[in-house]
Amino acid sequence: MINKNAPVGVFDSGVGGLTVMREIMRQTPNEKIIYFGDTARVPYGSKSRDTVTKYSRQIVRFLQSKEVKAIVVACNTASAYALEEIEKETDIPIIGVVKPGAKVAAAATVNGRVGVIGTEGTISSGIYSEYIKKINPKASVIGKACPLFVPLVEEGLWQDPVTDDIAGRYLEELIDTGIDTLILGCTHYPLIRSTVGRLMGEEVTLVNPAYETARELKELLQEKNMLSDAGAKLGEERYRFYVSDAAEKFKRFANSIIKYGILSAKIVNIEEY
Ligand code: DGL
Repeated sequence: MINKNAPVGVFDSGVGGLTVMREIMRQTPNEKIIYFGDTARVPYGSKSRDTVTKYSRQIVRFLQSKEVKAIVVACNTASAYALEEIEKETDIPIIGVVKPGAKVAAAATVNGRVGVIGTEGTISSGIYSEYIKKINPKASVIGKACPLFVPLVEEGLWQDPVTDDIAGRYLEELIDTGIDTLILGCTHYPLIRSTVGRLMGEEVTLVNPAYETARELKELLQEKNMLSDAGAKLGEERYRFYVSDAAEKFKRFANSIIKYGILSAKIVNIEEY
């Protein structure tokens, strides 16, 4: 019997998934959330499918040990590489960020030309293209890996000439392709949305998969009658954070993304799961 007041588990390779968590906090404020950031093994974007799948499996086991009622794979790379596998192995609902992002982009494009930016893993998996083409077989999808965006964001260079310069180089190829929609296919990119938007121009619609993912989570919980009606009990933390390393650094960065006041992040030895 599912406990509808059990927490939702959210995981990412590190801090970036907090952009997804903050959307879940906005759209389903009653839900308790357990967040896991794999700060010891980040980045996932340059690792192989097998490694990312192994890591994701361990994190799912950890979250299940906390008796979560559903899991959100907030990481695009893990959604691209591992979701299909871990879904098969898990008996609670799991949703990723790729399908919701693809759905919004397919609905938003007018000329059928969609761009995707993400990590090397997400782009080389071709998964955004696959999902968009399932909805609109005539769509053409152009991917571009932007590996330097993650470290730039983590260095706090959200609005900086260095980021402008790198973004200009990455996006140059996309600007001439006539895309009218661009998916921010990586957890970190919403934090440099204004830079990307300025370079791409007003006529290009930017899609942040986080919003749609949170909406789909809400819908799923509603459908299964699993939406929490209680929130957190007095003295109980509504949001709990776990990481695999560098808890203090995580806490500092996290507090700049979500306006909640994260007091602590506990370290977990994720290799044990
Ligand atoms: N969270 C990852 C993603 O959305 C970006 C960071 C990483 O490479 O691990 O793909």
